[in-house]
Amino acid sequence: MKQKLTTRFTERFGLDHPIALAPMDKVAGGRLAAAVSAAGGLGLIGGGYGEAAWLDRAISQAGNQRVGVGFITWSVARQPELIEAALARAPAGLMVSFGDAEEMISAAKAADVPTLWQVQRLNQAEQALKAGVDVLVVQGQEAGGHGMDRGLTALLPAVRDRAGPEQIILAAGGIADGRGLAASLMLGADGVLMGTRFWASTEAEGSAAAKAALVASGGDETVRSKVFDVARGVDWPWHFTGRIVANDFLKRWHGNIDALKQESAAQQAIYEASDPDDFSTRVLIAGEALDLIASIETARDIVETTVSEAHALLCESSRYLAS
Ligand SMILES: Cc1cc2nc3c(=O)[nH]c(=O)nc-3n(C[C@H](O)[C@H](O)[C@H](O)COP(=O)(O)O)c2cc1C
Repeated sequence: MKQKLTTRFTERFGLDHPIALAPMDKVAGGRLAAAVSAAGGLGLIGGGYGEAAWLDRAISQAGNQRVGVGFITWSVARQPELIEAALARAPAGLMVSFGDAEEMISAAKAADVPTLWQVQRLNQAEQALKAGVDVLVVQGQEAGGHGMDRGLTALLPAVRDRAGPEQIILAAGGIADGRGLAASLMLGADGVLMGTRFWASTEAEGSAAAKAALVASGGDETVRSKVFDVARGVDWPWHFTGRIVANDFLKRWHGNIDALKQESAAQQAIYEASDPDDFSTRVLIAGEALDLIASIETARDIVETTVSEAHALLCESSRYLAS
């Protein structure tokens, strides 16, 4: 592919394109991470809550392709040996999200592994900068999966102002095509981290039914909620919600979390007993970017289309300049 966009991010990581794969729990396996890296981006395996066997398999699946690993900080903090094991494989990067990650950043620095820290607020960005993180990932509330309540458009330039001109920053949340990439560069990012768009890819882990449901759903149907954390018995810190596609189970309990908590054992049993592809009960994690996704594509097509669209938009942008 001839179009390339060069940024501090591509230079630091030796990439062709300023695009990273979000380390999505149980979705970003070795095959998808390797495919994104092979296409010139940065593939990150979704180490999620921390499951040693799954992680081992994903890293092996990535083969010789250079990929990184991401974890859910508050969960993996309970298993520091997993971070050590991941660092021992000399990944292309260690990404941490959702919680205090100073110790993990120090461990990665000691192992000479580049670090990425996903933040949702300015004060978290300051915490990550203080820890000396290499890449700040700024996540807006549009994002699929867990996060907080700030929109990307104001948060991203504000983080750039705080972080200064040299810091590498990636934008995350609602980005699924070249328009999102070009706009993110204008707002102060050095690249983007995409989740929902890569979830709807050939190489993502997950059933055909789940991927078909993504294509059939739109951003209006998504909502931020804690229902599925309670229903799955996952102990998320209270200030994080997850963006998911609303379904019957969610509609029954959304806004009624206290009642769900009181019945949590029974509801968890109902949830666990349901067919994994029954998305009237099971959670389908995805963000507002669903509006921009019309088909399942290969990771390479997603990377290349996003870059060529952004490239064209940036070339055309001089038309806004008065002569
Ligand atoms: C299915 C799914 C699972 C996710 N799991 C994780 C995760 O395990 N760890 C993490 O840091 N972020 C996770 N995220 C959030 C992403 O890191 C990222 O912020 C988000 O996907 C960006 O927004 P987008 O989905 O609109 O591209 C997940 C997102 C999705 C869609």
